[in-house]
Amino acid sequence: MSAGHPNPYIRDIAAKDIGSAIAVAGHPIHAMLVHFPIAFVIATLGIDVFYWWSGDPFWLEVGKWSAGAGFGFGLLAAVVGTLELLAVPGIRVRVASWNHAVAAMVLLAVSGCNAGLRLYWPETVLPNGLMLSVLASLATAFAGWHGGKLVFDHGVGLLISPRQ
Ligand code: HEM
Repeated sequence: MSAGHPNPYIRDIAAKDIGSAIAVAGHPIHAMLVHFPIAFVIATLGIDVFYWWSGDPFWLEVGKWSAGAGFGFGLLAAVVGTLELLAVPGIRVRVASWNHAVAAMVLLAVSGCNAGLRLYWPETVLPNGLMLSVLASLATAFAGWHGGKLVFDHGVGLLISPRQ
């Protein structure tokens, strides 16, 4: 629809390639990786609630690994996402891609703080870690929502692209 848009700038954007460059057989690697930070960040919130409820230090240890994995996989997903953003003209030119990248950076900053807090100040997990987990989960939902918009609203990374 945007290809026949009366505004020439919109037509110009619609004409640019939005196929994934960092992909296995056309399947975007970023989309394969993002499930891990999303799952670990939200699991950390659940683990913190278990710790709050039970007081069992087992959950403190589990939370340390879960928050670390959320941050680590988030970094990995962000590196691949950034390569995609820089490599593909139709992704780079869309404001929605940069909105998603900014939301993802907020998520990484919060989940990095959360992981660091558990490593260096585990005694402050209640309440500070729990609050960071709530914030990280909200940031994950926001970043994930914007990532989904890139795929489902803009058609980024779909196998049916202007290249085919
Ligand atoms: C600076 C960092 C990031 C950039 C530049 C970026 C960029 C992108 C791009 C270009 C897409 C479209 C699909 C593709 O071509 O691969 C996308 C999709 C997506 N991104 Fe990111 N991303 C970043 C970090 C993250 C992080 C940390 C998360 C974790 C919450 C995330 C969650 C998603 C989701 C859920 C999708 C939709 C995937 C699908 O529905 O299949 N992104 N991102």
